[in-house]
Amino acid sequence: MDFKQIIAEDLSTQLSEHLTTNEIYNLLEKPKNTEHGDLAFPAFQLAKVFRKNPAEIASDIADNFSSNIVDKVDVVGPYLNFYLNKGTISAEVLKEIITEKSDYGNTDFGAGKNIPIDMSSPNIAKPMSMGHLRSTVIGNALANILEKMGFQPIKINYLGDWGTQFGRLITAYKLWGEEEKVRANPIAELNELYVRFHEELEKEPELEEVGRSWFKKLENGDKEATELWRWFREESLNEFNIVYDRLGVSFDSTNGESFYNDKMDEVVELLEEKGLLVEDQGAQVVRLEDYDLQPALIKKQDGATLYITRDLAAALYRKRTYDFDQSLYVVGQDQIYHFTQLKAVLAEMGYEWEADIHHIIFGLISIDGQKMSTRRGKVVLLEDVLDEAAVRAEKQINAKNPNLENKDEVAEQVGVGAVVFHDLQHDRRNDFNFNLDEIVQFEGETGPYVQYTRARALSILKKAKIDASYFENEKEFALTDDYSWTVIKLIQSFSSTLERAYREYEPSVIAKHALRLAQAFNRFYANVRVLDENPERESRLALVYAVALMLEEDLRLLGVQAPDEM
Ligand code: ARG
Repeated sequence: MDFKQIIAEDLSTQLSEHLTTNEIYNLLEKPKNTEHGDLAFPAFQLAKVFRKNPAEIASDIADNFSSNIVDKVDVVGPYLNFYLNKGTISAEVLKEIITEKSDYGNTDFGAGKNIPIDMSSPNIAKPMSMGHLRSTVIGNALANILEKMGFQPIKINYLGDWGTQFGRLITAYKLWGEEEKVRANPIAELNELYVRFHEELEKEPELEEVGRSWFKKLENGDKEATELWRWFREESLNEFNIVYDRLGVSFDSTNGESFYNDKMDEVVELLEEKGLLVEDQGAQVVRLEDYDLQPALIKKQDGATLYITRDLAAALYRKRTYDFDQSLYVVGQDQIYHFTQLKAVLAEMGYEWEADIHHIIFGLISIDGQKMSTRRGKVVLLEDVLDEAAVRAEKQINAKNPNLENKDEVAEQVGVGAVVFHDLQHDRRNDFNFNLDEIVQFEGETGPYVQYTRARALSILKKAKIDASYFENEKEFALTDDYSWTVIKLIQSFSSTLERAYREYEPSVIAKHALRLAQAFNRFYANVRVLDENPERESRLALVYAVALMLEEDLRLLGVQAPDEM
């Protein structure tokens, strides 16, 4: 229910000669101070047409205004302040969410439109970094948000599984690798081999050539090279999958860079046909002076393709396969230049859909003040961070609810949820530091606080000995106190919140909605006696139930689990 729309329509009966309903809608604003009502309409811009001063106009409009959702209209200077009828609106909002449950707020805005999301995309044989975690959880939340708005998201894990580094890795493995060790600890072991290659390279520059020739072999389908590569890829993916399972993230496609090995010739031919490929010191490049960019290197002197060559092939493939409405790439801000070049080359090729490609950037994370990828010279695996978070969550549970049954399971949900929520609660462009102890707290602006608030709401219902079916009748649940009203307004604003999250590709908008709702609910519960005998008891319990539903849906969109008890 969009009460702003209703008021805009009610105002329109008086103003339709001068303003469209849509214009009125856009002029309606939220007063800074809640004491000035729920919505305000400024009359300034009507002064010209009415040839009266704005204050007079405002009071004329107020005299003739009527609406069945408005209790009272105040005129303050040039402003009309509307006070909504809390009873009517709360009954409407509560009924809507209680009937629709997790469908509350669904729209078909994006129906029939595909949106591939390039997300996570770690590099095989290397540990998954905090950056990949960010890409994974931001991409996953965006997919959920898009889906709720009717779009068809396609989650793509564009694995970094191709490129000259695999020639080096094969070389290192052949020289120093041990199968047993790799099997026992694939990523750590392969990463070490790779590091060793670079160390030895200092002493033995010829190694570079050996690596290059192994990559050539790989590109040409040599049996030994391919088998090793496939094995490294599989072992790496197995390890990544452990993390994806814990995060509850799945993909619709894991076509990584290697998938495009046989699709790059076409790109090169197209570039040639269009007269865009030029030779530069033996290499093939596309000049991008018109865009104030360095040339895009498409093929090296030795014929090897590059990261951007594969991304061009992937962009074409995605356009053909998904006929996308938008194509998103959730990748750190250090790759802005790459994506700017990618879009510029596509523009040069004459593909107007280049404008539908959006690089969804995000900032850097550090943990306890240190960069995530290495700590004390050793690699910090994402898995270790999740383990640590779960351990700390368990400590909290032991302190607060020692008799909880499935403690391990809940600790995992709370620990992992804390990391994910924290990642998503900030504007994605910001860099941030985090401290595991702080983010697993059940109080403060944390994921566990939201989870805890929902569990608390459920426990109130349990105490009242009622379940969901209790609300499945045609009763009216009307509430008029200010604490309830704040909660109701937050639930009511969910649709516009969702739309904003979509427009800005910003899951933090949903996370903030969850936090504000949790805070408002806790204030309500501290001030309003829910369980006491009272004519409003039922409606208050309905509000408690509605909050549990709304928080669960906010958390689901973010990819955070909601334990019923914790
Ligand atoms: N594998 C890359 C990295 O870890 C990210 C890939 C991003 N996606 C893309 N289409 N380029 O840096």
